[in-house]
Amino acid sequence: MTYGMGAVAYLGASVLFILGLGGLSHPETARRGNLYGAIGMAIAILATVLAIGGAGLPVIIGAMVVGGAVGWFLAKRVEMTQMPQLVAVLHSFVGLAAVLVGIGGYVSPHTAFEGVEKVIHDVEVYLGVFIGAITFTGSLIAFGKLQGTIGGKPLLLPARHWLNLAAVLVCVGLGYLVLTADSMLAGLIPLLAMTAIALAIGVHLVMAIGGADMPVVVSMLNSYSGWAAAATGFMLSNDLLIVTGALVGSSGAILSYIMCRAMNRKFLAVILGGFGNSTSTASADAGGEVVATSVEDVAGMLRDASEVIIVPGYGMAVAQAQGTISEITRKLRAKGVNVRFAIHPVAGRLPGHMNVLLAEAKVHYDIVLEMEEINHDFPSADVVLVIGANDIVNPGALEDPNSPIAGMPVLEVWKARTVVVSKRSMATGYAGVENPLFYKDNTHMLFGDAKSTVDALLKQLDA
Ligand code: TAP
Repeated sequence: MTYGMGAVAYLGASVLFILGLGGLSHPETARRGNLYGAIGMAIAILATVLAIGGAGLPVIIGAMVVGGAVGWFLAKRVEMTQMPQLVAVLHSFVGLAAVLVGIGGYVSPHTAFEGVEKVIHDVEVYLGVFIGAITFTGSLIAFGKLQGTIGGKPLLLPARHWLNLAAVLVCVGLGYLVLTADSMLAGLIPLLAMTAIALAIGVHLVMAIGGADMPVVVSMLNSYSGWAAAATGFMLSNDLLIVTGALVGSSGAILSYIMCRAMNRKFLAVILGGFGNSTSTASADAGGEVVATSVEDVAGMLRDASEVIIVPGYGMAVAQAQGTISEITRKLRAKGVNVRFAIHPVAGRLPGHMNVLLAEAKVHYDIVLEMEEINHDFPSADVVLVIGANDIVNPGALEDPNSPIAGMPVLEVWKARTVVVSKRSMATGYAGVENPLFYKDNTHMLFGDAKSTVDALLKQLDA
């Protein structure tokens, strides 16, 4: 493949990636956006492999077949609820690749640059390895926290900000040693030392972030992985990797900003960690009694209602209850009940998690409303049906300044006439915080797995 053809292919792939990102901004165009992205990636891979050609080709194709097979197998097996973990693992691969490419590029005799070119190359390598190493371990810790193998409580070492600052300053010093080293070996030692420190920074940064702030961490690591890929692009002089990395890096940064705004957090404060460490007094102060209800009673409430709002959460995704909920919605709307959905920006475990599930279950977009669009409508709702949601409907976020989720805007469901909460037990949600909603006078707990519960509810509505 000629250089010109390669450049055209890369340009085409870049445009397709941008169109893909644009498409993902709305559920109706998301499928098309995904397709654009996939075609762009196919073109990018083909152009890159053809450009390499020669003796390296069989090795690359062999690696692609093995990597592709592992990816195919894992993606097929993974449940929708495990997607965030999969994404975190994929981010860690990008980080690890940046580290390996960087160190490989540094020791490779083919990249023996001189003068200014050497300085520029060494800076690219150094930054790429630094960002890559933080992304790698940060993503592995995020995986552990999302999977539940590492607790959600933030690890708060004494003087942790000073520790981070000292680590970064040492890395700057080591960078100076790499740039001024008079031999490859003399530079390799500080480069490897920095890698070890950056790996530790990645662990420390994410360990210090509390459970409730994980959405920001996931999107932030997404952004880091983009910058790591862009740095790798500079190291390999690959324009497409630079463009793609910058796209992922900047869109991840914008998403992190949106997440922070949704959770009423300052971006820097989340990155530096420490949120989610205070202990809530909500459970002790909640008082009140827990009132359990039955499917029959809830069916009656829904039949008599004229305004119903459904609030889906992580439990709906776990139970895969969205199909039946969609049928209940159709049935009630056919009877003239105004049923709408309220979506919290961090409901579930992925940005847009609930929107995807509801779209799959053929709930029309028109009745799926974002938090700021519907929050003021709760006082006029007759029944609010909370399906497997917990943190996103916790009044403690507004009422208890000591709550780990204090300040996070929540769906104010308790303002409705009646609230029905479908979940299996009194267990806490992701943030590990007690929920005073369950003890309110107008709240009725509908205990049981969300899918069995809504299946029974649908039957009851048919009866
Ligand atoms: P959660 O607060 O995690 O609550 C989910 C509830 O669902 C649990 O309390 C659980 O109670 C219930 N549940 C689980 N399986 C169920 C089943 N089969 N049937 C019925 N109920 C079931 O979820 P949420 O309200 O959606 O809030 C999201 C949380 O995740 C927030 O803290 C957010 O910060 C965090 N988070 C979000 C993201 C993104 S980007 N969305 C990423 C990472 C973390 P039982 O065990 O009693 O059933």
